[in-house]
Order: sequence, then structure tokens, then C-alpha cells
Amino acid sequence: MSGAETAQNEQVFSSNLLQGKKALVLGVANKRSIAWAIAQTLSRHGAQLAFTYQGDRIKDSVEKLVTTLPKKSPLFPCDVTKPEDIKNLYDGVRAEFGTLNYLVHCIAFAKKEDLEGRIIDTSREGYLMAHEVSAYSLLTVAKGAEPLMEKEGGSIVALTYLGSEKVVQNYNVMGMAKASLESGVRYLAHELGPKNIRVNGVSAGPVNTLAARGISGFTKMLDFHRQKAALCRNVEVEEVANTAFFLLSPLGSGITGEIIYVDAGYRIMGM
Ligand SMILES: NC(=O)c1ccc[n+]([C@@H]2O[C@H](COP(=O)([O-])OP(=O)(O)OC[C@H]3O[C@@H](n4cnc5c(N)ncnc54)[C@H](O)[C@@H]3O)[C@@H](O)[C@H]2O)c1
Repeated sequence: MSGAETAQNEQVFSSNLLQGKKALVLGVANKRSIAWAIAQTLSRHGAQLAFTYQGDRIKDSVEKLVTTLPKKSPLFPCDVTKPEDIKNLYDGVRAEFGTLNYLVHCIAFAKKEDLEGRIIDTSREGYLMAHEVSAYSLLTVAKGAEPLMEKEGGSIVALTYLGSEKVVQNYNVMGMAKASLESGVRYLAHELGPKNIRVNGVSAGPVNTLAARGISGFTKMLDFHRQKAALCRNVEVEEVANTAFFLLSPLGSGITGEIIYVDAGYRIMGM
């Protein structure tokens, strides 16, 4: 069975494990988004979802996707660099849901010129922007979620990539931002643990999405990954989504502060 078939078979798996649970998903831009794959998986396991979209430019595309889900899902505008957006988002989620069980952070951004060339040339502005959007935002959205998760406990998952700990050509400033994000996962896990709120990261192998295509030489990255990975293939987005589901759900109840690699065994390889 090929990797794609394995993932497709897993995709049809559904349950009532998340029935009655409420999840907020950040980072759907289009049907290829990892956030969308996670949303569909959470929905198949019974969760009710709320979504954000970054701006009017992608509102229509997100709206169209969201209406395909069986349960009505509220949609909120949210640019994570705007504190008023985050406040309005959580006011809206509180009004719609009352409580929140799960938070999915699938947000990253760096300027195109900072995803190629020499890292030494990264501008101060580009550095700050990449870190604000891709790492600091985890703190601000977790802070908004905390009071809504206090009653029932909760679980937060953020998406990350191997470029945080290994040098990946052209990933550059985003590697530094992901290192910060992953550290944030651990600090938040410690801080929110007493409230029974778990925080974990899913480190995905390369997946062909809008954000990924912004990385110079991304197609080469996919080829290289396929050749080197233990499973001799790239990951399917459904496999990433299934791991996020596992970590969020009661199945992951003993896990917090971890980064789980869903990379078809790429990271373990030396030579
Ligand atoms: N695609 C991959 O190969 C890969 C691998 C590992 C990790 N990831 C991570 O997965 C996550 C999702 O990315 P994706 O690959 O699905 O791409 P994507 O382009 O579909 O998603 C990125 C999202 O970030 C949002 N975003 C950017 N700036 C924002 C801002 N200021 N405010 C609010 N939202 C903002 C975009 O609107 C978009 O929805 C990212 O954290 C990415 O780094 C991706």
C-alpha cells in the first residue's frame, strides 16, 4: 500500500471522541492548508469548530470551505499582529461557545526575501515580523484561550518544522522563529499544566501549501525529503492532521510540552 493510500484510508476514520467539544482553528487559507486538514479531521470526530481568516482577501475562500462541514462554524477575522482582532476573536468565541476545549495554531509568515539568500542579510523588520506572526502569536492566542479552557481543561497544538533545530537551506529566519515557537510550547505547557491545559507541537515534513511555496526551492525540498526519509516518501497532510487530532484528544492526555515529528522518518536519518 502506498503512503497516499495509507493516509486516505486513515482519513475516512471517524468517531464520536470529540462530540460536544469546541475547537478554534487558526490558519485556514485554502483547501491545501494544514489547518483545513486538521479541521476536517476534528469535525469527523465530532468536534464543533470556529475559524479565523487573516483578511478580506481570503474570507470568501475560507467561508466556502467552512460551509462544507456538517455543523455550523462561526468565522472571525483575525490578523495576529492586531491585538484588537485577538480581543474581538475571543469575545466572539465566548459568545458563541461559552467554553473552548481545543486551539489549533497553524500560522506562520516571513517576507519572501527572508526565505532565500543569506540569513545574515535578514532585515530587523523581517526578523521581527517573522517572529511576531509565527512565534509570539502562540502566546497571545493561548492567553485568549486560557480563561475559556479553565473550566474543562484544554489542549493546544501548534505546527512547526525541523528547520527549528537543523539547518535547512532557505528556511532561514523561519527556522529561528520556529525555534522560538517550540520553546514557547514548552514554557506554556509548564505554565498552563496546573489548569489541565496541554500544549504540544506537531513538526510536519514538507507539505505543498501556499506558505510552503514561499520558500525558495520548495519543490527540491520535497524531492530531497522523499529520497532521504525512512519511509521513502513525503508525508500526506491527513497524517499530520491525524497526529494533531491525537494530541488534542483524550488519547493524548498524558502528553504535554512535546514536539511530535510527522515526517515519514526524515529526522532520524544520518547517512
Ligand atoms: N507546509 C509545510 O511544508 C509545513 C511544514 C511544517 C510546518 N508547517 C507549518 O504549518 C502551519 C500552516 O502552514 P501551511 O503550510 O498550512 O500554509 P498556509 O499558507 O495554508 O497557512 C498559513 C496561514 O498563516 C496565516 N497567517 C499568516 N500571517 C498571518 C497573520 N498576520 N495573522 C493571522 N494569520 C496569518 C495565513 O493566512 C494562512 O492561513 C505554519 O505554521 C507552517 O509553518 C508547514
